[in-house]
Amino acid sequence: MIIVTGATGALNGATVDHLLKTTPASEIVVVARDTAKAQRFAGRGVAVRQGDYADAASLPAAFEGADQLLLVSSSDPAADHLALHTVAIEAAVAAGVGRILYTSHQGAAPDSPFGPGKSHYETEQVLAASGVAWTSLRNGFYAHSLNWLLGPWRETGVVAVPADGPVSWTSRGDAAEAAAVILASDGAYDGPTTLTANAAPTFAEVTAIASEVAGREIGFEVLGEDAWIAAQAAAGQEAGARFMLGMYQAAAGGYFRGTDPLLGTLLGREPQSVRDLLAAPAPVAH
Ligand SMILES: NC(=O)c1ccc[n+]([C@@H]2O[C@H](COP(=O)([O-])OP(=O)(O)OC[C@H]3O[C@@H](n4cnc5c(N)ncnc54)[C@H](OP(=O)(O)O)[C@@H]3O)[C@@H](O)[C@H]2O)c1
Repeated sequence: MIIVTGATGALNGATVDHLLKTTPASEIVVVARDTAKAQRFAGRGVAVRQGDYADAASLPAAFEGADQLLLVSSSDPAADHLALHTVAIEAAVAAGVGRILYTSHQGAAPDSPFGPGKSHYETEQVLAASGVAWTSLRNGFYAHSLNWLLGPWRETGVVAVPADGPVSWTSRGDAAEAAAVILASDGAYDGPTTLTANAAPTFAEVTAIASEVAGREIGFEVLGEDAWIAAQAAAGQEAGARFMLGMYQAAAGGYFRGTDPLLGTLLGREPQSVRDLLAAPAPVAH
């Protein structure tokens, strides 16, 4: 039995869609905070159970019988991610789950300037100490985030960032598809497992790709942190900018520079690239 949390979300929802191509629906369970949001899976014969990391009492029944349990990382920016993930991992251990898989992030490290990078690392430490087999899916930074991280470059003709560095921009759809292959492999991938696109361009290099795609020169500026924050504040986006500043700092620090051929191997094709994303007609919604 494969049990999946976060299937009402984009990543693990797509993973279940892919899994259903290789695995009978009767061997898949999805766990949702609000089961009404998971009805599309129920309609395909997948059992839907209620479960919320913030409600520990809901988890024993939700995780019962899992040979493999795919845990989504918390998406709530205000939550104590490590605390929520620890509750979920403890419940998985108590339920006798055979293997825990967790949606982590490339560059997970105790000293990452990017907040989620730290909590992913700390969650991996909890997994390592759990005594249960575990796989941490260290997904590259979602490539579609560039649709807003680059700002309105199509209108302004300029990309402005606080700091620059390489990032292995990765398609969320590719990461979801690869997770399904890993789940179907029944334990072939253990511990931290990095899933990234094949290149890690800097923002300057992404801007050069944008210029080629747009057929005109797009400018590029590294503003420095204070000037960038001031510009974001002037646009009414200071809070979000302060959170994302850590991402640019981590990029400049090389935390997202690594690439791994595993994603392409699992997909049996070339992962999507930044050029594919920027050349696509319409940005992904989120
Ligand atoms: N690699 C990257 O660049 C990147 C970028 C952003 C986020 N992430 C991480 O990757 C995860 C998956 O991404 P996504 O695009 O699928 O996000 P998403 O579409 O926002 O989905 C998040 C999922 O997590 C579920 N969830 C949130 N809190 C929960 C809790 N306390 N207990 C149980 N389930 C909970 C949500 O349930 P509801 O439907 O009930 O809300 C939803 O199904 C995110 O949660 C985030 O940790 C990675």
